[in-house]
Amino acid sequence: MKTYFVTGGAGFIGSNFVLYMMEKYDDIRIVNVDALTYAGNLENLQSIEGDRRHIFVQADIRDKAKMEELFLAYQPDYVVNFAAESHVDRSIETPEVFADTNVIGTVTLLNVAKAAWEKPDGNFGKRKFLQVGTDEVYGSLPLDEPDTFFREDTPLNPHSPYSASKAAADMFVKAYGDTYGFPVNITRCSNNYGPFQFPEKLIPLMINNALHHKGLPVYGDGLNVRDWLYVEDHCKAIDMVLSQGRLGEVYNIGGHNERPNIFIVKKIIEECAQAVDDIRITEDLITYVEDRKGHDRRYGIAPDKIKADLGWYPETAFEVGIVKTIQWYLENADWVSNVTSGAYQDYYAKMYEGR
Ligand code: NAD
Ligand code: TYD
Repeated sequence: MKTYFVTGGAGFIGSNFVLYMMEKYDDIRIVNVDALTYAGNLENLQSIEGDRRHIFVQADIRDKAKMEELFLAYQPDYVVNFAAESHVDRSIETPEVFADTNVIGTVTLLNVAKAAWEKPDGNFGKRKFLQVGTDEVYGSLPLDEPDTFFREDTPLNPHSPYSASKAAADMFVKAYGDTYGFPVNITRCSNNYGPFQFPEKLIPLMINNALHHKGLPVYGDGLNVRDWLYVEDHCKAIDMVLSQGRLGEVYNIGGHNERPNIFIVKKIIEECAQAVDDIRITEDLITYVEDRKGHDRRYGIAPDKIKADLGWYPETAFEVGIVKTIQWYLENADWVSNVTSGAYQDYYAKMYEGR
């Protein structure tokens, strides 16, 4: 039986990953370590409540003593590090929080895992540390060169405090591999969407605002492009990299599904209006607002390496995934009101007031 030390497993992608793995494998143990910030929610894990294969621990990855205690208690085979501050807009407001969690947190985990796993001969056995990274570390692609993509050897050129912190974390993971022979993989995925995404990111924000006839704030000219991937396809890729990825390698994960933001917003309006049969959900809800500072123009991944080496490909077409996602938010209105109460309300008011 393998033990997975999953950090950030109460957040959006982390909880989807935990549920995916529990569904796929019987003989598995997941130690789910999450600080439960505004973005982490135990409701995401309700369907596996009482399942003895899943152990939830509320803890901070920066807490070295606690991480050491957990490593000693559970002897994990794998670390999958999802825990992070993940929202670009917040990183523009409070960059230092991103440096702290995303960089110091990752280095703390690397340090603890290395100490726990290293054998007297300097070997690490069949262990692996997988860093869940983002394509945003590569910077931005031009809109007028649609045939250029991020590849694993594209130089890192992060622009936002978020992507800078993720790039720094990746570099530490690489350094542990290069310096100590520590067994690592780094994945860099494009924008995810699907169930349990906190409604501050583009897709869930637009779905929930549209369903409540609230304004849909589109930044700048709405022509920035993101490459959208259904979250389950990301989870599948991570599982494949864990089991088959060559040590030390970086794998880019993307859907070849590049769309301008305004396309996404209009699609959500159309699908929401149809799903609830409501003629008040129209493009009149769109409000163009001030652009994000340093807004990256386009992200696009050529997922050739993970396809060729591991046989991964995205299974969920955007047209299918977006309808499933809207359906999920419709059926989980309680989840939305629970996670958006409290701190989120203040944040939301501050970010969008007066726009
Ligand atoms: P999220 O914000 O939904 O979840 C992050 C989780 O980490 C939350 O549950 C939070 O409580 C937890 N956390 C935060 N700080 C912590 C700390 N100090 N100790 C322990 N737990 C802590 O984020 P997400 O969208 O699920 O992203 C997960 C990972 O995937 C991140 O590393 C992110 O950079 C990466 N990623 C995200 C996307 C995307 O589109 N969302 C794309 C590529 C990569
Ligand atoms: P987001 O979901 O924050 O992801 P990221 O910035 O990591 O790509 O944003 C996706 C795109 O949508 C990005 O170009 C910014 C834009 N956006 C809006 O136009 N309005 C919004 O309210 C939000 C949250 C994002």
